[in-house]
Amino acid sequence: MTNKDKKRILTGVRPTGALHLGHYVGALENWTRLQEEYDCFFLIADYQAMGDHLDDIEGIRRSVYEVTLDWLSVGLDPGKSSFVIQSHVPEHAELAMLLSMVTPLGWLERNPTLKAERVRLESEGLSVGFYTYPVSQVADIALPKANLVPVGEDQVPHIEMTREVVRRFNRMFGQTFPEPDSLVGRVARLPGTDGEAKMSKSLGNVIYLSDEEEAVNQKVRSMYTDPNRTRADIPGRVEGNPVFAYHDAFNSDHDEVSDLKDRYTKGLVGDVEVKQKLANAINRFLDPIREKRTYYEGHPMVVKEALFEGTRKAKSVAEATMREVREKMGISYFVDES
Ligand code: TRP
Repeated sequence: MTNKDKKRILTGVRPTGALHLGHYVGALENWTRLQEEYDCFFLIADYQAMGDHLDDIEGIRRSVYEVTLDWLSVGLDPGKSSFVIQSHVPEHAELAMLLSMVTPLGWLERNPTLKAERVRLESEGLSVGFYTYPVSQVADIALPKANLVPVGEDQVPHIEMTREVVRRFNRMFGQTFPEPDSLVGRVARLPGTDGEAKMSKSLGNVIYLSDEEEAVNQKVRSMYTDPNRTRADIPGRVEGNPVFAYHDAFNSDHDEVSDLKDRYTKGLVGDVEVKQKLANAINRFLDPIREKRTYYEGHPMVVKEALFEGTRKAKSVAEATMREVREKMGISYFVDES
């Protein structure tokens, strides 16, 4: 099957820092798997990042490269999929503007992801661009006519809004965009190393895909675990314990995991052993990723080429969609009608 016959995926991240284990199990793992079956567009959403990082364009620039290295390291393949820099396909901005006309203000106001972020950002003086980013995300997805959007759990409300906006567009101007489905990874929400509900850079409770072995060992050693277990012979709790959540997510030696859980609940194993085995498992998981990273770090032209080619392909797809959109909306004034 050639890419032309395949259904499409668009998904992406904001370039605001390196990717971590939560990104992997929540989304990236699905992306690597699905790129065999789908024609994939992986978007580096630098426009979107500017909504709340305008004072750090240098950081955005750096992250574009960092995210690309993370993607290549986990096995996203620019030979199969397109890596796209959002600001280099300005049709994203054009479609976002047109779809903002189609989106009632109330839909934005009740978007739960936006609501959660607004609390944080109102005190920082949030920009109009930030406020309307869910509409720009709708445009990101609609531009290549994506059928599926594999994302982390927090992004699902945006995909729901996408369905509503494209449905409204299609009703007003004729069938143009598919209504995309969302898909969340095998671990919807990986807790932070501190036991917080979510791994997040701003909380500083993150293990990065680019962490060295020693950093992993140190972070795992200081991980939050069952707080009631002050001695190794006290029976511990496995549920809600981030150390075991990580064992479940990353330790491929299932016998070892069930043995540890069994002894933990009986008070027959110390935290040191449980954590040591976890650190080893995470390092085993990261080793092939590290190996690929080392290769790409030594071949920066390959990385650049991946971005250049992917963006070029996305641009040509975007131009075709925009021609159709203008025609459907009746604003292609210079195209001969006969
Ligand atoms: N909002 C997403 C994030 O913060 C990034 C993103 C931008 C995205 N456009 C998208 C995700 C389109 C999926 C589809 O990670």
